[in-house]
Amino acid sequence: MSRRIAVLVSGRGSNLQALLDAIKAGTLSADLVGVLSDRPDAPALQKVPEALRWSADAKSFPDRLAFDQALADAVAACHPDWVICAGYMRILGDDFIERFRGRLLNIHPSLLPKYRGLRTHARALAAGDVEHGASVHFVVPELDAGTVLAQVVIPVLPGDTPESLAVRLLPHEHALLTASVALAISGRLTEQDSHPFCDGQPLLKPLALDSSGNLFPSP
Ligand code: GRF
Repeated sequence: MSRRIAVLVSGRGSNLQALLDAIKAGTLSADLVGVLSDRPDAPALQKVPEALRWSADAKSFPDRLAFDQALADAVAACHPDWVICAGYMRILGDDFIERFRGRLLNIHPSLLPKYRGLRTHARALAAGDVEHGASVHFVVPELDAGTVLAQVVIPVLPGDTPESLAVRLLPHEHALLTASVALAISGRLTEQDSHPFCDGQPLLKPLALDSSGNLFPSP
């Protein structure tokens, strides 16, 4: 099992908390080896002991490349098998992505390929979508464009606002991320010729999350 995970965060850290809860409950047998942030004041950092934290203010580096290099070195120093972006809001540079490619996952609050980037809930509502959701995807240099590993779908309800949609989606994001990390560390995910495979089969469609928090091939 490749169970060492490093988590990148920028904000409140509810996704990180979901991973910590699952580890504590014994439902996720991951070893958290580091929590790293581009924001030294990120509340997420407070959720783990100081020995696991690394942060640096990106603005104090001469340029984007220098920050990315420092972050990549700090991640590498944790020797993670997988690197999980859980509410990490800074765009990762190509060098960083290449260094961890194939073992770098991100959770994004939309049904990718819909709504890459920001304001996903507002954009789903403006488009009149009847369903919304979240995706866990492999990170590639193009923003939110990597192969989608798994998705969770929720209905859009009459009267929904971007805020209500975000609140309703969040617990599903937590379940999706936890299940996706469990799958990643199980060793069932591999990469061949830059394409992700699950159980030896190319990942052609995202896996879906059932109400018990399990991933299954979508029909
Ligand atoms: C989540 O909605 C995640 O999908 C998005 O940013 C939010 C982070 O929330 N990328 P948290 O910091 O994990 O609470």
